[in-house]
Amino acid sequence: MSKQNLAVVILAAGKGTRMKSGSPKVMHELAGRPMIGWLLDTVQELGAKKIVVVIGPGMPELAAAVAPHQTVIQKERNGTGGALKIALPALKNHKGDVLVLLGDTPLLGVKTLKSLVAARGDDGIAVLGAELPDPTGYGRLIVKGDTLQQIVEEKDASAKEKQVALVSTGAFCIDGAKLESWVKKIGNKNAAGEYYLTDLPEIAAKDKAVTRVVVTKNIEEIRGCNSRVDLAALEATLQNRLREKFLTSGVSMIDPSTVYLHFDTKIASDVLIEPGVFFGPGVELGEGVHIKAYSHIEGAKIGKGATVGPFARLRPGTDIGAEARIGNFVEIKKSKIGKRSKISHLGYVGDTIMGDDTNFGCGAITVNYDGFDKHQTVIGKGVMVGSNVSLIAPLEVKDGAFIAAGSTITDDVPADALSISREDTQIREGWAKEFRQRKQAAQKKKKP
Ligand code: UD1
Ligand code: MG
Repeated sequence: MSKQNLAVVILAAGKGTRMKSGSPKVMHELAGRPMIGWLLDTVQELGAKKIVVVIGPGMPELAAAVAPHQTVIQKERNGTGGALKIALPALKNHKGDVLVLLGDTPLLGVKTLKSLVAARGDDGIAVLGAELPDPTGYGRLIVKGDTLQQIVEEKDASAKEKQVALVSTGAFCIDGAKLESWVKKIGNKNAAGEYYLTDLPEIAAKDKAVTRVVVTKNIEEIRGCNSRVDLAALEATLQNRLREKFLTSGVSMIDPSTVYLHFDTKIASDVLIEPGVFFGPGVELGEGVHIKAYSHIEGAKIGKGATVGPFARLRPGTDIGAEARIGNFVEIKKSKIGKRSKISHLGYVGDTIMGDDTNFGCGAITVNYDGFDKHQTVIGKGVMVGSNVSLIAPLEVKDGAFIAAGSTITDDVPADALSISREDTQIREGWAKEFRQRKQAAQKKKKP
């Protein structure tokens, strides 16, 4: 019956005072994505007919992050019960269950929520609960037999109630036909002076409606985010999930706990990732890629069988060809590197197009910025750029050219040519020996 017709209300208007931040709490990121996005994904998988998000005034970035779902604004932040009341007009034509979720509990799983919705059956409300080793801060579930009597908030709990380890996760599945009349009865006579969503079971009981509790064992999933300590714990949970996803799909990580993934990271099979690697947004690794230790990679596509690192930095707009080798202390930005090309050590390549089979020597750099504009360097196929070369852009080095080590190149280099721009070497026979003798003699004189 009602199960086919589910509406979801997400409460996300709170200021998140305990986060000590200028941003709305649910906009804080987990694996590089606002936490509300994770919850919305899960809710969408439930197949809800309607999703309404309650936000605070002056939160346009949150409304944009939630779009195309409907948002309603709770002007006065007077509690979770108050927030749900604001959503009532948006549910006017809804017939069926209403699932109420807290925006600051982003990692709830689809399976858990399905079991909550199923548990309501014909009862008034089903509440998702969990037993926590440290229940501090959460509302405690006071249960008698198999029904929930009351939810007591931390601020209102007696010493004995505080001993209760069974807590409310804040997720409620409510009979939609009764929702409005019950929500309107929520008062604010409590320690916080707020309208508590958690008063609903007692209000329902007066209406002879029962509240069931579904207890989940998945404690990591139900953690609320009230502080940056919680945020870091949620990030850890999510990172573990992402790592497991890739390990299962054929990616090797020597020490997964030190690899940081972004929500959109794409990794093909047989990739090997060494310890201490950070992936920012927009990374795509092809089959058999090897990322060596301590590399920082964002906005980069890395072709099949390429090797990157150790200690490499790939910045947005980087496209590394198959089997290319990017070595230690190399930074690449907005550049396309050809197949099998090598930038093995200590280099900077920016705004560059490099062909296949080119060698970019140790300490060589593209000089792409004049203080005002960025300029492009084009390097052909099979080019040999010697060590410690500066290529002053805009510049084109054609196929097969050879740039002598230590050169500063300002002019285009034709195909297969040698380009050299450095002082001739001078040799002064015996100079070093004489210098040493002079210095040693002077030192002897100084000593008493
Ligand atoms: C809440 C519950 C508590 C539960 C815990 C689970 C209440 C009264 N308390 O406590 O029982 O154990 O979550 O994590 O419900 N919000 C609004 N408008 C408001 C106030 C809050 O939209 O006026 C939103 C917040 O943005 C947040 C959510 O509701 O996403 C929960 O609010 P929060 O202040 O974090 O409640 P907790 O103290 O965590
Ligand atoms: Mg909270």
